[in-house]
Amino acid sequence: MVEVNVDGLDLKFETLPDLFSPKKLDNGTRSLVEAIKDVKPDYQNALDWGTGWGAIAIYMAKTQPSANVVAVDSDIAAIKTATANAEQNGVTNLSVVLSHGFDEVDKDIKFDLIVSNPPTHRGREVVEDMIAQSFERLEENGAILIVVEARLKPWISKQLSRVFGDHKVITRSNKHVVLMSTKVSQ
Ligand SMILES: C[S@@+](CC[C@H](N)C(=O)[O-])C[C@H]1O[C@@H](n2cnc3c(N)ncnc32)[C@H](O)[C@@H]1O
Repeated sequence: MVEVNVDGLDLKFETLPDLFSPKKLDNGTRSLVEAIKDVKPDYQNALDWGTGWGAIAIYMAKTQPSANVVAVDSDIAAIKTATANAEQNGVTNLSVVLSHGFDEVDKDIKFDLIVSNPPTHRGREVVEDMIAQSFERLEENGAILIVVEARLKPWISKQLSRVFGDHKVITRSNKHVVLMSTKVSQ
């Protein structure tokens, strides 16, 4: 059991050894979660791409009960764990979906916030596709928020600017960087 306190909110999570950061909330994930309230606190349709054991999605669903949150992961073990964790934390406004990227996400839903701590060791195209497809799945003025290791900032900055036209650095430590882009009409 991993016990997490973010901004005064206590959450409890089951994890599995094969999932990302099974013993504690990853510091990068925490940076992303903590950034949400500063940059996009009023989301109504949010998606967590690559949810793992569900920390980001469950935090988003819990702190914004009027929102609909979707969490996707391509790993069935992650999906089962995140589903159990949503129930354990009393979250009912979250759909946890087994999906390779956006493949199984209803195309009619447009999101106002997409967040991700993406897999960066599975080939660059996985993250580059996620960024490109996020642009398509966001509504006007919707935002994407990504956390990566600080050493990967030049690559992610370039991709965000290529697809969205611009990006901002939201927080930065020597280990992680949280980046954001907003979808605006050209
Ligand atoms: C770095 S982990 C982050 C997990 C969790 N969001 C966190 O911060 O603790 C990346 C996650 O992306 C998932 N993933 C990898 N490729 C994916 C894909 N094509 N579609 C959806 N999820 C994917 C992995 O299974 C993993 O759970």
